[in-house]
Amino acid sequence: MARWAVFGLGDELVRNMFASHKKKDEECVFRRAVVSGATSGVGEATAKLLAQRGVEVVVGGRNMSKAEEVAKSIRLDGGRATAALVDLSSCASATRSGRELRRRLGADDRGIDLLINNAGSMGESRSTTLSVNLIATCAFALAMLPAIDKGVVVNVGSSSHLRAPAIGWDTAFLDDEAKDRDLRAYAQSKLCLLHCSRVFSAAGVNCVDVHPGLVWTTMLRKQLPGSDFIEKHVPPAWRRRIFKDPDDAARTLLTAADLGTTQSPLVPAQRYVVGSKITREHAFGFGGLASAESRDPRGIHHTWRNVVGPRLDAAFLDLKEDDDGFKDSITNTKKRLDQACDLAFPPPPAPSQPPSASCV
Ligand SMILES: NC(=O)c1ccc[n+]([C@@H]2O[C@H](COP(=O)([O-])OP(=O)(O)OC[C@H]3O[C@@H](n4cnc5c(N)ncnc54)[C@H](OP(=O)(O)O)[C@@H]3O)[C@@H](O)[C@H]2O)c1
Repeated sequence: MARWAVFGLGDELVRNMFASHKKKDEECVFRRAVVSGATSGVGEATAKLLAQRGVEVVVGGRNMSKAEEVAKSIRLDGGRATAALVDLSSCASATRSGRELRRRLGADDRGIDLLINNAGSMGESRSTTLSVNLIATCAFALAMLPAIDKGVVVNVGSSSHLRAPAIGWDTAFLDDEAKDRDLRAYAQSKLCLLHCSRVFSAAGVNCVDVHPGLVWTTMLRKQLPGSDFIEKHVPPAWRRRIFKDPDDAARTLLTAADLGTTQSPLVPAQRYVVGSKITREHAFGFGGLASAESRDPRGIHHTWRNVVGPRLDAAFLDLKEDDDGFKDSITNTKKRLDQACDLAFPPPPAPSQPPSASCV
């Protein structure tokens, strides 16, 4: 943890102190949005901000009563919101959640034009972190993609991906032998999510991966040594000079979403939003660069084809055929992404065979 405090958070805390905290209130181009993990922290603030900007919001949560509560408070403030079960505890539950939501959205034939994959987990177990942040998030996104059409997908990443240790690309990656509270699993999940964002983009999806900044939420408080002390003794105004409020992070996410609608030169080709003008205002992280690993075509190929893809395939295989055409739709979407991945990030060439004895 000390290593993280020094090398992980320190840089960002200092940058936050010099960040502009000025607030912007812009119009939103979106009509209807789904936000996962909208029952607390960044997700809740984002759902509320979207509603304030006139967007109809689907408040996604694994806990329906919490999601209903957030949706109700949005409605009481004059916004439009409904709750939906978005349970990312497993690939199967994520796919089920997507199927239910697609049915519901299909009923009025309007789809959505913004999906914010915000739900995240850290510090429970390695497999929970990787499942929620990566595999189940991708399963849910794939279920929703056909309803999104020309809209935007925002994947909530993290600058922690820069600290992802060089991943040993082996099957042990997803094993959960022990409770692993190390942040390595979290950093790895966010690096791999960034790989997946690049595959989505290669398939023609307007996809942006965004680091929201260091935000004072339950997730951060649970991990940060001394957070109880900060909560009790540091005045909120001072705290806000160091950590962002969820409202600030929400603005970062919506700015990223707006950028996703354009080919703005502000967004680097890799579409990881940290290093542009917007992030100097709202979110900082390591000079704004996505890591070299996140751009490595072999890494991207491996993540999609060997780590995420097979797990999605297995879950989709188990789906019941139904007259809603969902199984076909999600399987075809997956194939489209596989093809885009192979084309944009081709598999590394097979190692050349050693010359046979007869040739020597
Ligand atoms: N806070 C930061 O400094 C920071 C920095 C970089 C990136 N991020 C990212 O920002 C996103 C939001 O995190 P946060 O800081 O706002 O944390 P948070 O307040 O703990 O919110 C996490 C959200 O994810 C939901 N969630 C957790 N497990 C889930 C599951 N199995 N299925 C569905 N939903 C689940 C939670 O639901 P419940 O309400 O039911 O618990 C909650 O709504 C995450 O992706 C996180 O990795 C945060």
